[in-house]
Amino acid sequence: MMLNKLLLLLCLGGSGFAKEPPDADCVVLHLKFVKCTWNRYGNVTVNYTFNSWFEGEDARACEMYLTNNSIKTGCIQPYGDKNNRFRTFHMQLVHGNDTFPKTADLKSKVKLNPPTNLTVQNGSDWNLWFYWNQTFAWCVQNEVRYRTNYKKWDTNTVNRGKLNYCINLPSSRSRYELQVRSRFHEACGASGWSDWSETVMWGSNTGPESDQGMVVWITVYVLAPVILILMVVLLLRYERFRIIFIRVVPKPYLNSIGERSNQPWPQLSKVFKEGFKANYHEQPCPVREYRQVSQ
Ligand SMILES: *[C@@H]1O[C@H](CO)[C@@H](O)[C@H](O)[C@H]1NC(C)=O
Ligand SMILES: *[C@@H]1O[C@H](CO)[C@@H](O)[C@H](O)[C@H]1NC(C)=O
Ligand SMILES: *[C@@H]1O[C@H](CO)[C@@H](O)[C@H](O)[C@H]1NC(C)=O
Ligand SMILES: *[C@@H]1O[C@H](CO)[C@@H](O)[C@H](O)[C@H]1NC(C)=O
Ligand SMILES: *[C@@H]1O[C@H](CO)[C@@H](O)[C@H](O)[C@H]1NC(C)=O
Ligand SMILES: *[C@@H]1O[C@H](CO)[C@@H](O)[C@H](O)[C@H]1NC(C)=O
Ligand SMILES: *[C@@H]1O[C@H](CO)[C@@H](O)[C@H](O)[C@H]1NC(C)=O
Repeated sequence: MMLNKLLLLLCLGGSGFAKEPPDADCVVLHLKFVKCTWNRYGNVTVNYTFNSWFEGEDARACEMYLTNNSIKTGCIQPYGDKNNRFRTFHMQLVHGNDTFPKTADLKSKVKLNPPTNLTVQNGSDWNLWFYWNQTFAWCVQNEVRYRTNYKKWDTNTVNRGKLNYCINLPSSRSRYELQVRSRFHEACGASGWSDWSETVMWGSNTGPESDQGMVVWITVYVLAPVILILMVVLLLRYERFRIIFIRVVPKPYLNSIGERSNQPWPQLSKVFKEGFKANYHEQPCPVREYRQVSQ
Protein backbone atom coordinates (compact mmCIF):
# COMPACT_ATOMS: atom_id res chain seq x y z
CA MET A 1 0.00 0.00 0.00
CA MET A 2 2.65 2.49 1.09
CA LEU A 3 4.73 1.61 -1.94
CA ASN A 4 1.72 2.08 -4.25
CA LYS A 5 0.96 5.52 -2.78
CA LEU A 6 4.58 6.47 -3.07
CA LEU A 7 4.64 5.37 -6.71
CA LEU A 8 1.43 7.30 -7.43
CA LEU A 9 2.87 10.43 -5.80
CA LEU A 10 6.06 10.03 -7.79
CA CYS A 11 4.08 9.61 -10.98
CA LEU A 12 1.87 12.65 -10.35
CA GLY A 13 4.86 14.72 -9.29
CA GLY A 14 6.80 13.50 -12.28
CA SER A 15 4.09 14.42 -14.77
CA GLY A 16 3.61 17.76 -13.02
CA PHE A 17 7.22 18.70 -13.45
CA ALA A 18 7.69 17.25 -16.89
CA LYS A 19 7.60 20.05 -19.46
CA GLU A 20 5.49 18.84 -22.38
CA PRO A 21 6.58 20.64 -25.55
CA PRO A 22 3.65 22.24 -27.41
CA ASP A 23 3.27 20.69 -30.84
CA ALA A 24 3.91 23.40 -33.41
CA ASP A 25 2.65 23.00 -36.97
CA CYS A 26 3.50 25.31 -39.87
CA VAL A 27 2.18 26.12 -43.33
CA VAL A 28 3.59 28.41 -46.03
CA LEU A 29 0.95 30.84 -47.26
CA HIS A 30 1.36 31.60 -50.98
CA LEU A 31 5.18 31.84 -50.55
CA LYS A 32 4.58 35.06 -48.62
CA PHE A 33 4.28 34.03 -44.99
CA VAL A 34 4.99 31.11 -42.69
CA LYS A 35 2.14 30.56 -40.28
CA CYS A 36 2.81 28.38 -37.23
CA THR A 37 0.32 27.37 -34.56
CA TRP A 38 0.88 25.36 -31.37
CA ASN A 39 -2.42 24.97 -29.58
CA ARG A 40 -3.99 22.14 -31.53
CA TYR A 41 -5.29 20.45 -28.37
CA GLY A 42 -6.33 23.69 -26.66
CA ASN A 43 -4.23 22.85 -23.57
CA VAL A 44 -1.59 25.61 -23.81
CA THR A 45 -1.80 27.79 -20.69
CA VAL A 46 1.35 29.91 -20.87
CA ASN A 47 2.67 32.43 -23.36
CA TYR A 48 5.58 31.08 -25.35
CA THR A 49 8.01 33.27 -27.23
CA PHE A 50 8.47 32.10 -30.81
CA ASN A 51 11.64 32.31 -32.92
CA SER A 52 12.23 30.80 -36.33
CA TRP A 53 14.61 30.76 -39.30
CA PHE A 54 15.32 28.84 -42.45
CA GLU A 55 18.61 26.92 -42.61
CA GLY A 56 21.46 29.37 -43.10
CA GLU A 57 19.50 32.41 -41.85
CA ASP A 58 19.66 34.25 -38.52
CA ALA A 59 17.02 33.50 -35.92
CA ARG A 60 14.08 35.85 -36.21
CA ALA A 61 11.75 36.80 -33.37
CA CYS A 62 8.07 36.42 -34.14
CA GLU A 63 6.75 39.45 -36.04
CA MET A 64 3.05 38.86 -35.44
CA TYR A 65 1.53 36.63 -32.79
CA LEU A 66 -1.87 35.01 -33.10
CA THR A 67 -3.78 34.90 -29.82
CA ASN A 68 -6.86 33.17 -28.53
CA ASN A 69 -8.36 34.16 -25.20
CA SER A 70 -5.26 36.30 -24.56
CA ILE A 71 -2.91 33.32 -24.94
CA LYS A 72 -0.38 33.31 -27.76
CA THR A 73 -1.27 30.34 -29.93
CA GLY A 74 0.49 31.08 -33.21
CA CYS A 75 2.84 33.28 -35.18
CA ILE A 76 3.09 34.65 -38.71
CA GLN A 77 6.60 35.22 -40.05
CA PRO A 78 7.72 36.58 -43.42
CA TYR A 79 8.68 33.78 -45.80
CA GLY A 80 11.63 35.38 -47.62
CA ASP A 81 13.33 33.79 -50.61
CA LYS A 82 11.02 31.77 -52.87
CA ASN A 83 13.25 28.70 -52.55
CA ASN A 84 13.20 28.78 -48.75
CA ARG A 85 10.66 25.96 -48.59
CA PHE A 86 13.38 23.58 -49.80
CA ARG A 87 15.49 24.44 -46.74
CA THR A 88 15.00 23.13 -43.23
CA PHE A 89 12.80 25.34 -41.10
CA HIS A 90 13.91 25.83 -37.49
CA MET A 91 11.68 27.06 -34.69
CA GLN A 92 11.87 27.60 -30.95
CA LEU A 93 9.18 27.96 -28.35
CA VAL A 94 10.61 29.60 -25.24
CA HIS A 95 9.03 29.90 -21.80
CA GLY A 96 11.21 30.96 -18.87
CA ASN A 97 14.30 28.83 -18.89
CA ASP A 98 12.69 26.21 -21.13
CA THR A 99 13.36 26.19 -24.82
CA PHE A 100 11.60 23.71 -27.09
CA PRO A 101 13.31 23.45 -30.48
CA LYS A 102 11.79 21.82 -33.53
CA THR A 103 12.58 21.53 -37.21
CA ALA A 104 10.18 21.06 -40.12
CA ASP A 105 10.25 20.37 -43.85
CA LEU A 106 7.87 22.87 -45.43
CA LYS A 107 8.44 21.90 -49.07
CA SER A 108 5.00 20.34 -49.52
CA LYS A 109 3.33 22.45 -46.87
CA VAL A 110 2.48 25.29 -49.20
CA LYS A 111 -1.03 26.63 -49.47
CA LEU A 112 -1.47 28.87 -52.47
CA ASN A 113 -4.19 31.47 -52.69
CA PRO A 114 -7.02 30.32 -54.94
CA PRO A 115 -6.84 31.42 -58.58
CA THR A 116 -8.18 34.94 -59.22
CA ASN A 117 -10.18 36.67 -61.93
CA LEU A 118 -12.02 33.56 -63.04
CA THR A 119 -14.01 34.55 -66.11
CA VAL A 120 -16.12 32.75 -68.71
CA GLN A 121 -16.43 33.47 -72.42
CA ASN A 122 -18.94 32.05 -74.88
CA GLY A 123 -16.57 31.37 -77.76
CA SER A 124 -17.58 31.85 -81.39
CA ASP A 125 -16.53 28.19 -81.91
CA TRP A 126 -19.49 26.99 -79.80
CA ASN A 127 -17.14 26.21 -76.90
CA LEU A 128 -17.27 27.66 -73.45
CA TRP A 129 -13.90 29.07 -72.36
CA PHE A 130 -12.85 29.72 -68.78
CA TYR A 131 -9.83 31.87 -67.88
CA TRP A 132 -8.17 32.67 -64.57
CA ASN A 133 -4.98 34.02 -63.07
CA GLN A 134 -2.48 32.47 -60.68
CA THR A 135 0.95 33.56 -59.49
CA PHE A 136 3.84 31.16 -60.28
CA ALA A 137 1.71 29.97 -63.20
CA TRP A 138 4.58 28.06 -64.83
CA CYS A 139 4.94 25.89 -61.71
CA VAL A 140 1.30 25.53 -60.83
CA GLN A 141 -1.09 22.75 -61.70
CA ASN A 142 -4.75 23.63 -61.69
CA GLU A 143 -7.80 21.54 -61.16
CA VAL A 144 -11.22 22.49 -62.45
CA ARG A 145 -14.54 21.29 -61.26
CA TYR A 146 -17.86 22.14 -62.84
CA ARG A 147 -21.45 21.07 -62.61
CA THR A 148 -24.62 21.66 -64.57
CA ASN A 149 -27.99 22.38 -63.01
CA TYR A 150 -26.77 21.68 -59.46
CA LYS A 151 -25.85 18.07 -60.24
CA LYS A 152 -22.65 16.36 -59.09
CA TRP A 153 -19.30 18.14 -59.53
CA ASP A 154 -17.13 16.85 -62.37
CA THR A 155 -13.41 17.30 -61.63
CA ASN A 156 -10.71 17.66 -64.30
CA THR A 157 -6.97 18.28 -64.15
CA VAL A 158 -5.46 21.06 -66.24
CA ASN A 159 -1.89 20.79 -67.50
CA ARG A 160 0.87 22.67 -65.70
CA GLY A 161 1.09 26.31 -66.73
CA LYS A 162 -2.31 26.33 -68.45
CA LEU A 163 -4.71 28.97 -67.17
CA ASN A 164 -7.80 28.10 -69.16
CA TYR A 165 -10.33 25.37 -69.61
CA CYS A 166 -12.84 24.59 -72.31
CA ILE A 167 -16.22 22.88 -72.26
CA ASN A 168 -17.32 21.59 -75.65
CA LEU A 169 -20.75 22.34 -77.04
CA PRO A 170 -22.39 23.64 -73.90
CA SER A 171 -26.15 23.65 -73.73
CA SER A 172 -27.33 27.20 -73.12
CA ARG A 173 -30.42 25.72 -71.49
CA SER A 174 -28.26 24.41 -68.64
CA ARG A 175 -26.68 26.38 -65.85
CA TYR A 176 -22.91 25.87 -65.62
CA GLU A 177 -20.90 26.51 -62.45
CA LEU A 178 -17.13 26.26 -62.43
CA GLN A 179 -14.37 26.59 -59.82
CA VAL A 180 -10.56 26.24 -59.97
CA ARG A 181 -7.91 25.41 -57.39
CA SER A 182 -4.13 25.29 -57.57
CA ARG A 183 -1.10 23.49 -56.20
CA PHE A 184 2.57 23.27 -56.99
CA HIS A 185 3.25 20.68 -59.65
CA GLU A 186 5.65 17.79 -58.88
CA ALA A 187 8.17 19.47 -61.17
CA CYS A 188 8.32 22.37 -58.70
CA GLY A 189 7.95 20.41 -55.47
CA ALA A 190 4.37 19.26 -55.09
CA SER A 191 2.22 20.97 -52.49
CA GLY A 192 -1.29 20.63 -51.14
CA TRP A 193 -4.29 22.17 -52.86
CA SER A 194 -5.43 25.73 -52.40
CA ASP A 195 -9.03 26.43 -51.55
CA TRP A 196 -11.47 26.54 -54.45
CA SER A 197 -11.76 29.84 -56.26
CA GLU A 198 -14.95 31.81 -56.46
CA THR A 199 -17.60 30.25 -58.67
CA VAL A 200 -18.24 31.53 -62.16
CA MET A 201 -21.61 30.82 -63.77
CA TRP A 202 -22.89 30.58 -67.31
CA GLY A 203 -26.10 29.53 -68.99
CA SER A 204 -29.77 29.88 -68.44
CA ASN A 205 -30.85 30.77 -64.98
CA THR A 206 -32.67 27.77 -63.73
CA GLY A 207 -33.11 27.34 -60.01
CA PRO A 208 -35.08 30.03 -58.17
CA GLU A 209 -36.30 31.39 -61.51
CA SER A 210 -37.42 27.93 -62.56
CA ASP A 211 -39.61 27.86 -59.47
CA GLN A 212 -41.18 31.07 -60.70
CA GLY A 213 -41.62 29.46 -64.10
CA MET A 214 -43.30 26.54 -62.39
CA VAL A 215 -45.72 28.91 -60.67
CA VAL A 216 -46.56 30.53 -63.99
CA TRP A 217 -46.94 27.12 -65.60
CA ILE A 218 -49.32 25.90 -62.88
CA THR A 219 -51.32 29.13 -63.13
CA VAL A 220 -51.67 28.93 -66.90
CA TYR A 221 -52.20 25.21 -67.39
CA VAL A 222 -53.89 24.09 -64.18
CA LEU A 223 -55.52 27.01 -62.41
CA ALA A 224 -56.80 28.76 -65.53
CA PRO A 225 -58.85 25.76 -66.81
CA VAL A 226 -60.21 25.16 -63.32
CA ILE A 227 -61.30 28.78 -63.06
CA LEU A 228 -62.77 28.57 -66.55
CA ILE A 229 -64.76 25.43 -65.69
CA LEU A 230 -65.97 27.05 -62.48
CA MET A 231 -67.09 30.10 -64.42
CA VAL A 232 -68.91 27.94 -66.97
CA VAL A 233 -70.65 25.98 -64.21
CA LEU A 234 -71.71 29.16 -62.46
CA LEU A 235 -72.90 30.65 -65.73
CA LEU A 236 -74.94 27.53 -66.54
CA ARG A 237 -76.51 27.56 -63.11
CA TYR A 238 -77.36 31.22 -63.51
CA GLU A 239 -78.80 30.62 -67.00
CA ARG A 240 -81.00 27.78 -65.79
CA PHE A 241 -82.23 29.92 -62.95
CA ARG A 242 -83.17 32.65 -65.36
CA ILE A 243 -84.80 30.27 -67.81
CA ILE A 244 -86.91 28.65 -65.08
CA PHE A 245 -87.81 32.04 -63.77
CA ILE A 246 -88.87 33.23 -67.18
CA ARG A 247 -91.03 30.14 -67.77
CA VAL A 248 -92.84 30.46 -64.46
CA VAL A 249 -93.82 34.01 -65.23
CA PRO A 250 -95.19 34.31 -68.76
CA LYS A 251 -94.30 37.54 -70.45
CA PRO A 252 -94.21 39.93 -67.50
CA TYR A 253 -92.08 42.28 -69.46
CA LEU A 254 -91.34 45.76 -68.41
CA ASN A 255 -90.88 48.59 -70.84
CA SER A 256 -88.41 50.13 -68.55
CA ILE A 257 -87.59 49.81 -64.89
CA GLY A 258 -90.76 49.67 -62.81
CA GLU A 259 -93.14 50.37 -65.71
CA ARG A 260 -95.23 47.38 -66.72
CA SER A 261 -97.34 46.93 -69.81
CA ASN A 262 -100.93 46.06 -68.88
CA GLN A 263 -101.82 44.44 -72.15
CA PRO A 264 -100.94 40.74 -71.46
CA TRP A 265 -102.85 40.78 -68.13
CA PRO A 266 -106.35 42.00 -68.77
CA GLN A 267 -108.07 39.16 -66.88
CA LEU A 268 -105.95 39.36 -63.68
CA SER A 269 -107.22 41.23 -60.69
CA LYS A 270 -105.46 44.36 -59.57
CA VAL A 271 -104.57 42.74 -56.22
CA PHE A 272 -102.86 39.82 -57.92
CA LYS A 273 -101.01 42.16 -60.23
CA GLU A 274 -99.81 44.27 -57.35
CA GLY A 275 -98.74 41.12 -55.48
CA PHE A 276 -96.92 39.87 -58.47
CA LYS A 277 -95.25 43.22 -58.99
CA ALA A 278 -93.89 43.12 -55.48
CA ASN A 279 -92.54 39.60 -56.03
CA TYR A 280 -91.13 40.51 -59.34
CA HIS A 281 -89.21 43.40 -57.97
CA GLU A 282 -87.75 41.32 -55.18
CA GLN A 283 -86.44 38.59 -57.46
CA PRO A 284 -84.26 40.27 -60.09
CA CYS A 285 -81.82 41.98 -57.71
CA PRO A 286 -79.82 38.93 -56.64
CA VAL A 287 -79.83 37.65 -60.21
CA ARG A 288 -78.37 40.86 -61.58
CA GLU A 289 -75.67 41.04 -58.95
CA TYR A 290 -74.81 37.41 -59.51
CA ARG A 291 -74.15 38.13 -63.15
CA GLN A 292 -71.88 41.03 -62.37
CA VAL A 293 -69.79 38.85 -60.08
CA SER A 294 -69.41 36.13 -62.67
CA GLN A 295 -68.04 38.70 -65.14
C1 LIG B 1 -1.49 18.97 -24.89
O1 LIG B 1 -2.07 17.68 -25.11
C2 LIG B 1 -1.37 16.91 -26.09
C3 LIG B 1 -2.15 15.62 -26.31
O2 LIG B 1 -2.74 15.19 -25.13
C4 LIG B 1 0.07 16.65 -25.64
O3 LIG B 1 0.75 15.89 -26.61
C5 LIG B 1 0.77 18.00 -25.44
O4 LIG B 1 2.06 17.80 -24.95
C6 LIG B 1 -0.02 18.87 -24.47
N1 LIG B 1 0.58 20.19 -24.43
C7 LIG B 1 0.85 20.82 -23.31
C8 LIG B 1 1.47 22.17 -23.42
O5 LIG B 1 0.58 20.33 -22.22
C1 LIG C 1 -9.98 29.51 -29.20
O1 LIG C 1 -9.98 28.57 -28.15
C2 LIG C 1 -11.19 27.90 -27.97
C3 LIG C 1 -11.07 26.98 -26.77
O2 LIG C 1 -9.92 27.23 -26.05
C4 LIG C 1 -11.50 27.11 -29.23
O3 LIG C 1 -12.75 26.47 -29.09
C5 LIG C 1 -11.55 28.06 -30.42
O4 LIG C 1 -11.75 27.32 -31.62
C6 LIG C 1 -10.26 28.82 -30.53
N1 LIG C 1 -10.36 29.80 -31.60
C7 LIG C 1 -9.47 29.88 -32.59
C8 LIG C 1 -9.69 30.95 -33.58
O5 LIG C 1 -8.50 29.13 -32.64
C1 LIG D 1 -0.08 36.47 -23.02
O1 LIG D 1 0.16 37.54 -23.92
C2 LIG D 1 -0.98 38.36 -24.15
C3 LIG D 1 -0.68 39.34 -25.25
O2 LIG D 1 0.69 39.48 -25.46
C4 LIG D 1 -1.33 39.05 -22.84
O3 LIG D 1 -2.48 39.87 -23.04
C5 LIG D 1 -1.65 37.98 -21.82
O4 LIG D 1 -1.90 38.58 -20.56
C6 LIG D 1 -0.51 37.00 -21.68
N1 LIG D 1 -0.95 35.89 -20.84
C7 LIG D 1 -0.17 35.31 -19.90
C8 LIG D 1 -0.77 34.16 -19.17
O5 LIG D 1 0.96 35.69 -19.70
C1 LIG E 1 16.47 29.86 -14.76
O1 LIG E 1 17.89 29.75 -14.82
C2 LIG E 1 18.56 30.61 -13.90
C3 LIG E 1 20.07 30.51 -14.14
O2 LIG E 1 20.41 29.30 -14.76
C4 LIG E 1 18.18 30.19 -12.50
O3 LIG E 1 18.81 31.04 -11.58
C5 LIG E 1 16.67 30.26 -12.34
O4 LIG E 1 16.28 29.81 -11.09
C6 LIG E 1 15.96 29.47 -13.40
N1 LIG E 1 14.53 29.72 -13.30
C7 LIG E 1 13.66 28.73 -13.30
C8 LIG E 1 12.19 29.13 -13.20
O5 LIG E 1 13.97 27.53 -13.31
C1 LIG F 1 -8.34 40.54 -60.67
O1 LIG F 1 -8.77 40.32 -59.33
C2 LIG F 1 -8.22 41.23 -58.43
C3 LIG F 1 -8.65 40.81 -57.06
O2 LIG F 1 -9.30 39.61 -57.06
C4 LIG F 1 -8.70 42.62 -58.79
O3 LIG F 1 -8.12 43.56 -57.89
C5 LIG F 1 -8.28 42.95 -60.20
O4 LIG F 1 -8.81 44.20 -60.58
C6 LIG F 1 -8.78 41.90 -61.16
N1 LIG F 1 -8.26 42.16 -62.48
C7 LIG F 1 -9.00 42.04 -63.57
C8 LIG F 1 -8.31 42.28 -64.86
O5 LIG F 1 -10.17 41.73 -63.53
C1 LIG G 1 -23.07 31.67 -77.38
O1 LIG G 1 -22.51 31.87 -78.66
C2 LIG G 1 -23.25 31.29 -79.72
C3 LIG G 1 -22.47 31.49 -80.99
O2 LIG G 1 -21.67 32.63 -80.94
C4 LIG G 1 -24.62 31.98 -79.77
O3 LIG G 1 -25.40 31.40 -80.77
C5 LIG G 1 -25.31 31.76 -78.42
O4 LIG G 1 -26.55 32.46 -78.41
C6 LIG G 1 -24.45 32.28 -77.31
N1 LIG G 1 -25.11 31.92 -76.05
C7 LIG G 1 -25.16 32.74 -75.00
C8 LIG G 1 -25.89 32.26 -73.81
O5 LIG G 1 -24.63 33.83 -75.01
C1 LIG H 1 -4.29 37.82 -65.72
O1 LIG H 1 -3.32 38.81 -65.44
C2 LIG H 1 -2.74 39.38 -66.60
C3 LIG H 1 -1.66 40.34 -66.14
O2 LIG H 1 -1.89 40.81 -64.85
C4 LIG H 1 -3.81 40.09 -67.41
O3 LIG H 1 -3.27 40.62 -68.58
C5 LIG H 1 -4.91 39.10 -67.76
O4 LIG H 1 -5.97 39.75 -68.41
C6 LIG H 1 -5.43 38.43 -66.52
N1 LIG H 1 -6.38 37.40 -66.88
C7 LIG H 1 -7.61 37.37 -66.37
C8 LIG H 1 -8.46 36.24 -66.81
O5 LIG H 1 -8.02 38.22 -65.60
